Order: sequence, then structure tokens, then C-alpha cells
Amino acid sequence: MCGIVGYIGPRQAAGLLVDGLRRMEYRGYDSAGLAIVNGHGVEVVKAAGKLDNLEQRLQGATPTGTLGIGHTRWATHGAPTTTNAHPHTDQSGRIAVIHNGIIENAGALRKALEGRGHVFKSETDTEVLAHLVGELYAGNLEEAVAAALRDVDGAYGLAFVSADEPGVLVAARKGSPLLVGVGDGEFFVASDASALLEHTRSVVYLDDGEMAVLSRDGYRIRNLETDFIDKPVNQIEWDLATIERGGFDHFMLKEIFEQPESLENTLRGHLLDDEGSARVHGLNMTDDELKQINRIVITACGTSWHSALIGEYMLEELARIPVEVEYASEFRYRNPVVDEKTLVIAISQSGETADTLAAIHEAKLRGARTLGLVNVVGSTIAREVDGGLYLRAGPEVGVASTKAFTSQVAALTLVTLRLARLRNLGIMQGRAIIEGLRKIPAQIRQILDRAHEIEALADQFWQSNNALYLGRGVNFPVALEGALKLKEISYIHAEGYPAAEMKHGPIALIDENMPVVFIAPKDTVYGKIVSNIEEVKARGGRVIAIVNERDADMARLTDFCFVIPTTLNVLTPLLTIIPLQLFSYYVALRRGCNVDQPRNLAKSVTVE
Ligand code: G6P
Repeated sequence: MCGIVGYIGPRQAAGLLVDGLRRMEYRGYDSAGLAIVNGHGVEVVKAAGKLDNLEQRLQGATPTGTLGIGHTRWATHGAPTTTNAHPHTDQSGRIAVIHNGIIENAGALRKALEGRGHVFKSETDTEVLAHLVGELYAGNLEEAVAAALRDVDGAYGLAFVSADEPGVLVAARKGSPLLVGVGDGEFFVASDASALLEHTRSVVYLDDGEMAVLSRDGYRIRNLETDFIDKPVNQIEWDLATIERGGFDHFMLKEIFEQPESLENTLRGHLLDDEGSARVHGLNMTDDELKQINRIVITACGTSWHSALIGEYMLEELARIPVEVEYASEFRYRNPVVDEKTLVIAISQSGETADTLAAIHEAKLRGARTLGLVNVVGSTIAREVDGGLYLRAGPEVGVASTKAFTSQVAALTLVTLRLARLRNLGIMQGRAIIEGLRKIPAQIRQILDRAHEIEALADQFWQSNNALYLGRGVNFPVALEGALKLKEISYIHAEGYPAAEMKHGPIALIDENMPVVFIAPKDTVYGKIVSNIEEVKARGGRVIAIVNERDADMARLTDFCFVIPTTLNVLTPLLTIIPLQLFSYYVALRRGCNVDQPRNLAKSVTVE
């Protein structure tokens, strides 16, 4: 995610801001910039790429001034170019803003502002905020920001400065973290405590809907209704490494716990509640073109391949379009049946996986239309496909993919909804899916609140050498993904199978040392899964079950039963995978493995 830092005090701001940005480098970013207020106005310096590029631009040309804001961007709207980098300025060039998050109604606001003569330089939603505040500005930045935010939908952490008020910094938070650093005669804002830890350990955490107004002799917290809120000053006790991981011991755990928010970000702005459909402009296809698709091929690697299998199930079930899922590494070597009526969807967290990229090239050569479901904005796959959807899951640092997986499944649900509503899916069914999707983040929170139960389970099983994961239907790919997670980070041999396939081979492995994980929410084949569990039990296997109801059968047959909240069958993977991610994490931890950087694996595989 992006990083925000702001400073007001007696010292020169530019160097402090760059240092703060450097501290947030671990979060990942694709461009950076800063704005300094001084006697000449607001001086903005930005650069695409690494922070070194920004530092180079600053060499010999560092703006002087003791008030400023700095930003590292992780693109969600518009390519990672210098123009799209923050800060952005208003029409007058006298107000500058940095922003984390997504403004949902940016399109409508931009259109209205353009209608009133505003000219935009970038493709970002953030620039809209600068113009909006600029338009409302009448000599009081705080009031202009408060007024502008009344018209804004979406999520944000924001910091504004104005050339006309060289003693004021205004910040605001809704859905994106922000804190005020209270120093000795100087004040900071930051999205991340690591950016200001060098200077102070006293911080005030902003809550959603709150604004902070910083001046040279103090700060005040307010919201849109009242102009003063009394907030406690907290002392940070963590060290820097812990802060970088948001207080978690590992990036993987942090990313598992981020899933309620990352999913909200993936879905934000796409759900059409009334129509029971999804708005996916990025597909770049008309309704007629979408209706002409008679076949879909989804291609990917690793975890992304598992989400593709879930997509296959959803698209066939709801949109009634035949779907084939192909390992990207196999796709181009097998003379694939692909033509101009085939839609080829590439799924990739990094957008750089060499095999997936090669598959896209092959699909294009054969005349197919290509779409990408990609997390990293501006990555190679994202640039080469004809259209697609960004996952907006934020940077994923842990090598074992977690939040990107759930965002991929959510993005596939959006594409499915869009295609299915043009075909057979009725409005009521569409609405039910949307209603279900809206509940998922809170349901994931409920599961995460019970992480200690999974931790206790890991205590029982961490010494196993093998594990079997079984699921059916849409939860068969979850079995594959659960097994992959365990294998990747704990080096335990684990396999995933369709539950009923067990009797054709894996059953030979079952004895009292073999944990068997069943993913068994109540669906049309639930009774059959219960029979499969009986077969395991009869051979002394130890049964772990992920269910949405602990009925008499489950109580009788399982050694451990984890109950997830109830949702629609097609959406269950978004919940069933969470305890499995946690399980692999806690097992790997007990085994002393390097969770974030497992041996032999790479986060982004750019070789064939
Ligand atoms: C590597 C990673 C996996 C990932 C796969 C595909 O193997 O270790 O976690 O699922 O690449 O990566 P992509 O970036 O294309 O999703």
C-alpha cells in the first residue's frame, strides 16, 4: 500500500520526509514524491520507480521549507508514472495532497469539475481531491478539506498543504490508517509509525471520519461535525522491524489478517446492488462482445491457478460458459484450441510470471481476447492484456500467497456476475451473491478472531510428515490451495484431492499418523463427504474438518471441527481458505521454518 508522511516544525522538511519514506520502503511502491511549502509557493518533486530516483532529482535542487508532505505510491488507478505519482496539486498549483486509498466517486467528481473548467494532468482519483479542495478554498484549508470530504465516497488517508497557509497541515482518515506524531516542538503525520519512529514515540491514532490539523505549536483532532475531539497520546513500544510488519511476527500473518480490508478494496466500486450485477469497466468490452464469448480459458501458475479453478466452477455454474483452466507453463506447448470467440483470462499476483506472460502472448497470436486479473498495477501482464481488473489487494510480501488469492476469487466473482447477468442469471440471484459478498469481510474477521483455535490445532499436528486435504465442488481447489500452503512453508508433504477420488489411491496412505483435512460446508454433496470421512475414520486417520455446521455426524467423526460462518455455496472458498492459511502458518512456525521466505521459492518467477 502507499505510504504517507508529513512534517511541520523548525527543521528542513525535505530530508526528514525522504527518510520517512525510506522507512516505509518495505511496503512496496512504484513511485514517490514530496511537496514543500515555502515563500515561493508549493514546490513538488516526484519520480517514478525507486526512492533513489526521487533522491537523484532532489540533488542540488532540494526545495527548502519547514512544512511538507511526502508519499510513496502503490498504484491502484493509472500507471506508475511520474505524472501519476503524488503529491497532486489543484488548479491553482497552490494546494497539494497525498492520498492512500480509493475514491469511489472520483469519476463523477472529475466530470463535474471538468464541466466547471478544471483541467487534470493525471489519471488518478487523488488529483480530483486536490481540485475539489482548491475549488472550495477561501483562505482556510481546514474548512475546505472538511467541506470537500462531505462529497467524497471511498477510502482515504490524506494530507494537504497550501501555499497560502505555511503554518498548517491538514490530514484526514477514513478506511486507511493515519497517525499524528507528537514531537518536541514539531509534529508529523504518517500512515505507518515506522516513518516517524526516529523522531518520536508519542502518537495519536486517528479513527475513521477524523481529521488532524497540525500547526507549528500544536495539533487538534476533529471530525466533520465537531471541531475538537480529545484523543489519548499513545507510546509506541514496538521496535522498527515489528512495526514494519504492523505488529505481526511475519508478513504472511499480517497479510492473512489484512484480508477483510484487501477484499473490501477489491470489491470497492464494483458492486451494483440494485441490478444484482458488477461494474467492470476494465474489461473494455461491450455487452454484445461479452455475449459473443463462447469459451473461456483461464491460465495461471501456483496459487493463482487454484483461484482459476474456483473461477471455472463459478463461471460454468452461473454464466453457463464452458471454461478450461490451463497451467500457463503448459498452455503454449499444447497447441491450445483458442480463437477470436475465446476469452483468455490470465491471473497473476505479480503480473510478471514468465509462463503466464508467455501464455498471454500465445493467446494473442491465436486471435483471442485477453484479460488480466493482476495485483501489481503497471506490471507486464497488466500492460499486455486487452483489459482486466486490478485486485487492489496491496503489496504482498510473504512468498506464500494469501490475500492475493482471496482477492483473485473475489475478482473472478465480479467477472462471473457481469457475464452471468448478461445470460441466465436472474436479478434476484445476482443480488443474493452481492449481498453475500458484502458480508464476507466481516465473516473473515469472525474467523480471524478465532485464530487461537487454529494455533492450538497446529500444536497437535506440527510433527506430522504428511497431510491430505479433501474437498468437493468449489472447495476442491481450496483443498489444493490448503495443501500447497502447508507444503510451501512447512515442508510437510501435503496433497489435495477431490474427496471422492480418495478411494482411487490416497486411501492407501491413511493410518493413525495421517491428518486428513476435509473442507465440508453443507452443500449438495455434503452427505457424500460424510461417507468419505467415515472411510478415513475406519482406517484410523485423524480428521480435521472445516464446516459451517457441526452436526451430529461431524461431532461423531472429527477430531477437530472448525465452524465457519454461513454464506452462499459459491462464496465458501473465501471463508474456508482462511483457517487453512492460518494452520499452515502456525505449523511452519512450530517447525522453525522461515515463513516469509521459504526455501527454494521466489515471490515472482520471471524465468520459464
Ligand atoms: C510463485 C509464488 C506463488 C505464486 C506463483 C504465481 O511460485 O511463489 O505464490 O502463486 O508464483 O505467481 P503470480 O504472481 O503469477 O500469481
